[in-house]
Amino acid sequence: MINMKGKTALVLGVANQRSIAYSIAKALSSAGAELILSYANATLAKRVEPIAAELGAKLIIECDLTSDAAIQNMGNKIRERYDSLDCLVHSVAAAQADELNKPFHHTSRQGFGLALDISVYTLIAAVKELESLLKPGSSVLTLTYFGAQKVVPNYGMMGVAKAALEACVRYLAYSMGEHGVRVNAISAGPLRTLSTAAISGISELQKRIEKTSPLQRNIIHEEVAKSALYLLSDLSSGVSGEVHFVDAGMNIMAY
Ligand SMILES: NC(=O)c1ccc[n+]([C@@H]2O[C@H](COP(=O)([O-])OP(=O)(O)OC[C@H]3O[C@@H](n4cnc5c(N)ncnc54)[C@H](O)[C@@H]3O)[C@@H](O)[C@H]2O)c1
Repeated sequence: MINMKGKTALVLGVANQRSIAYSIAKALSSAGAELILSYANATLAKRVEPIAAELGAKLIIECDLTSDAAIQNMGNKIRERYDSLDCLVHSVAAAQADELNKPFHHTSRQGFGLALDISVYTLIAAVKELESLLKPGSSVLTLTYFGAQKVVPNYGMMGVAKAALEACVRYLAYSMGEHGVRVNAISAGPLRTLSTAAISGISELQKRIEKTSPLQRNIIHEEVAKSALYLLSDLSSGVSGEVHFVDAGMNIMAY
């Protein structure tokens, strides 16, 4: 087991116990890291507060990442108590459900902007706000999906957002690299969460993965969390700007 004792980790994007962020936070906590959790809005507080207690989080901060003021407030609260952050996990995305369920060429300007803002810019905004806390050896991790690279029916707007996110990982890895900070992404196979409830055809996709992926099964949340732990720890000290697939090998298949 990886030892994360003495490390502090901020995890953005816990909504409930099915969130990928929850599994990563749980793995970090089990490995001994001190946790800071952040969640999007007051409605989620009643779900996230018990999770914070369960995982022994030392700080829990409400932050709508589309608000510069809220991000600044989050940064201030963290800087009041901490001099450095070893790990930053960005497990945040959203698009309007109606944007995903229509032909891609009917994407609205407003829907396009919103998906890019929440799913992509929030990563840049978080790194920018927390820059002074990210020290040599710190690791930043975000979550992406194969729909960034190939067309996945019903993923539409989110595929474009994930392509932009993966490009941001490379540019952030370059710009933060001079500070010794690493930036990577995990491209996870489909998992049932609050976010995927808005995407139709997930069951069919999962059945197809069971039939055709090299491992002939779907992944589970804990497998994403284990790979996250590697990318967030010193075990991956030479890795930056990568998109690492945790998808039972599905991405290597032509059909
Ligand atoms: N579930 C999957 O199959 C899958 C596969 C690959 C990648 N991902 C990615 O993993 C990440 C986490 O998604 P998930 O599946 O765990 O679903 P989730 O719904 O549990 O997590 C998404 C999180 O984004 C947060 N969020 C949305 N708008 C926000 C805002 N304005 N400010 C702050 N937070 C905001 C939500 O509150 C939620 O906590 C996303 O980037 C998603 O695209 C998911």
